[in-house]
Parts: sequence; structure tokens; C-alpha cells
Amino acid sequence: MPRPYVITVSSEKGGVGKTTLATNLAVYLKALAEDLPVTLLSFDNHFTVDRMFRLSADQTELHVGQLFSATPASELIRQGEYGVQIIPSCRDLNLFNPQPPADEDLARILSRTELGGVVIIDTCPILDPYTRNALFAADRVIVPIKDAPSLENCQHLANFFADHGISRAPLRLLPCLIDTRIRYSGPFKDSYQLLKAYAINRGYRCLEGFIAKSPKVESLATNPEGKVYPVLTHGRSTEVHLQFTHLARQVYLEYLEKGPHRMGEVSEAQRTRDNALIHREQERRQRLLDSCLCCGKKLDFTQLAEAFYLETSGRETCGFIEESCFYEMVFSDLYAEQKTAPGAAIKELFRETAQVSCFLLQRLDSSHVKLARLDHNGETLSCRTSEVKSSRGLLRRGIPLLHNLLERTLSANERHSLLLIKKSANPATSILAETPYSRFQAIFSRARLDYARQDQAVDAGLNNPVFP
Ligand SMILES: Nc1ncnc2c1ncn2[C@@H]1O[C@H](COP(=O)(O)OP(=O)(O)O)[C@@H](O)[C@H]1O
Ligand SMILES: [Mg+2]
Repeated sequence: MPRPYVITVSSEKGGVGKTTLATNLAVYLKALAEDLPVTLLSFDNHFTVDRMFRLSADQTELHVGQLFSATPASELIRQGEYGVQIIPSCRDLNLFNPQPPADEDLARILSRTELGGVVIIDTCPILDPYTRNALFAADRVIVPIKDAPSLENCQHLANFFADHGISRAPLRLLPCLIDTRIRYSGPFKDSYQLLKAYAINRGYRCLEGFIAKSPKVESLATNPEGKVYPVLTHGRSTEVHLQFTHLARQVYLEYLEKGPHRMGEVSEAQRTRDNALIHREQERRQRLLDSCLCCGKKLDFTQLAEAFYLETSGRETCGFIEESCFYEMVFSDLYAEQKTAPGAAIKELFRETAQVSCFLLQRLDSSHVKLARLDHNGETLSCRTSEVKSSRGLLRRGIPLLHNLLERTLSANERHSLLLIKKSANPATSILAETPYSRFQAIFSRARLDYARQDQAVDAGLNNPVFP
């Protein structure tokens, strides 16, 4: 499967020439290697990419924000001017995607596309989630620096790589907007030499050469047509033309030599993570007991329609209780000592709330348990203590449900607890997949923490009915 070589142009400084560099590099690369697919996109909202490349007949409303909402890149890519493909810009990425992407999202998305060649990403001057995505996915990060402050800002980019535990080898600095008329006495004759020396001194690597400041280049964005013209077509007489030619050659040679490797790394890391998830889920399945923990009936997990999943706090025991057993246990065993048994309406209400609740059962001593009803954030809604009637209690079909459950789960574990949650998907074992299982564990942790705190305080006071 072809993979793209991703070049991100980034700097936390505005006005250093990022967009001019990204757009012109695309044109020069295409001119250098006609068969090389070059795709350009911008996470900034100034639409320079669109003004330079978008064909007037192209009326699409698709844009780069949709990359993060599962639209395949192939649907977003438009053929643009100068042979360059573009993904149109988005007016407000934060408005379009209120949930910001995780730093790895773009890399994952691009590694799954059929997109080959070079992808150039222009970024905005802040290290927002989109810039972070572009950095994470990059085979090469070009950082234009035009002065000492823009050089100082590179530290944040370097930190980004360190924070993610990835090599900062993709970083290359490029002096841009260099005023070649300024000369210095001393070892560094001009601002290019000076900036390069500063950069190397701080441990950064630079691309060869620089991009000079040119009034001609500056004028290419201002014309009655409202277009932005490339240096290649409208500024051939400038020294910047030669500098872009030189830069494109360097970048192209690097592409040929190293090829796209970042997408491979990302896919490999993803594969390792996926395998670890599968392995963890398999381990959970192996621990699963195959009969109802209340009545002991053998369960067929593929057919199990209505049931509660449960797990003990030490993760020693996990399995299912048939829904009917659970209700019977609550109504008969846990409420056995009530003067008036819960009526049909209350039972129905309990069944309804049980669908969206979790239940924490804790053994207090050999003859008492505490049952708490929690919401899906692990917050206690109600709680009661009951006496365990053991096998002499009210039996269902002659089976002591609560007694059995405690024997199989919390027998020797005073103060240990178990959490029950209604299974919501089929097959029943899908609760063991990473996302629902992590949610289950998060509720359990929160509830246990609350109860550990309460145990340290007074145990009384919370003895409210579990019924709604
Ligand atoms: N080599 C250059 N010579 C002269 N002006 C330039 C050059 N490169 C960029 N500019 C101008 O500098 C301004 C900022 O450039 P731009 O590429 O938009 O920077 P950034 O994307 O970092 O904000 C623009 O007006 C642009 O036309
Ligand atoms: Mg810009």
C-alpha cells in the first residue's frame, strides 16, 4: 500500500514565511518530479492554499476538517493548479470539530489511506491540536526562522517530540525572509550565517541554503484577481526562484533516499497496541466463569440475552448473572427481612432503573452485605445493608441465590466488593472489549474509592433503600 511522505511546515511565529514556503515547495516539487503526487493542505484558516491552487470550477464544500470525521482523504482531495492536489481549507476547525483530535489521529488516518507521494502540511502559528497532529505525522518538519525570537520558539517543537518519546530527527530549520542587504562585521557576515550559527549552537539541524526576502515575492499575493501566484510562474527573475529550486531538490532527494517511514512507524506502533488489546481481552475471556454465578446454570455467551456482568475487586472472579436471578436475589434474599415485600410497581421501577445503573455488593462480615446502586459515573444513588440468610433464606427453585453468589465471589473476602452492570451489547462477552471494560473498571474504581473513604468514617448514615 502506498504511503505518503509527510512534510510539515511549522513555527510558533506568525509571518515567518510558513505558508509561502509550503505552497511554493509544492509547486517546485511538482515541477521537479512530474509523476510525484504532491498533496497540500493547511490547518490555518487564511485560505492562501485555496487562493493559489483551487480551480475556479471546483465548488466543493468539503474541507480539511472532515479528515478527522471519518471522511476518506481520497474524497477530500481536489485536483488543483500546477498539478498540485489540495484538500480545501476550513474556516474554523475548532468550530467544525468541537472535540479536538488526539495528537496521533492524523497519522493514523493518513497511514490508512492509499495516498502516496508527498503530503505538505501548512500549520498555524500556535501549537494547537492540528499543528500537533501535523508534527506527529511528519517525516520532515521544516521550521522557517527569520530572526532570533523565531529560533527560540523552536524549543517548543523540540519539546513536543520529547514529550511523545519520538526522535526529533525530522526537525530541520530554514532561515527565511533573509534580508541579504544586511551585512555584519565579524565571523558571521550576514543574517543567514548568523541564524544558522545560532541554530547549530542550540543543537538544531538546518536545511542547506535559505529563502531571501524579496519585494517581488511579497507582491505575489496582491493582485486584482485575488489569487496568490507561485514564485515559479511569476517570480522567476528573483534569487528566491533559485533558492526554492535548490530547496525542492534537497527535499526530493531526501524523499527518494529515506522514503516515507513515519507512516510505517505509526502503523507498526498501532499494530503493537492492537495486539496488546486483543491479548488483554483474551485474558479476560479466559477468566470468565461459564455458569450463572447465582443459580449455577451453564451459560451460552452467544445466546445470553439479559444478564449482568460482574467482577470482584481483586479481579479474581468474573462472570455473568442471569437478569432474572439478579432480580429474584434482590427482591427475595436482600429484602427478605422487609416487613412488606416490594410491590409489583416498585419491582418494575427497580427493573427499569437497573438497566442504567450499576450495583456494588460488599461483604461486611459473615452475615451482612451492603448493596449500593450507582450511576454510570460510579456515584452512589442509594445504599442498604442486608442480612445474609444463607441456604435457610428464601430460595428460588430451591437455590439460595445470594448465598451462592457470595460463596463464588466474596466468600473469604470481607470488605471486598463486586460490581454488577447490565450487559448492553451482543454477544455478552463484548463487555470485555477494551472500551466497555475500561468504563466498567473506571466506575468500579470510583465506587471503591468512595467506599474506602466511607469505611474510614462511619458506616451508618447511608442506609437508604436501594429501591428508587
Ligand atoms: N521570501 C519572501 N520575501 C518577501 N516576502 C515574503 C517572503 N515570504 C513570505 N513573504 C511575505 O511575508 C508575509 C508572511 O508570509 P507567510 O508565508 O504568510 O508567513 P506565515 O505563514 O508564517 O504567517 C506574507 O505577506 C508573505 O507574502
Ligand atoms: Mg501561514
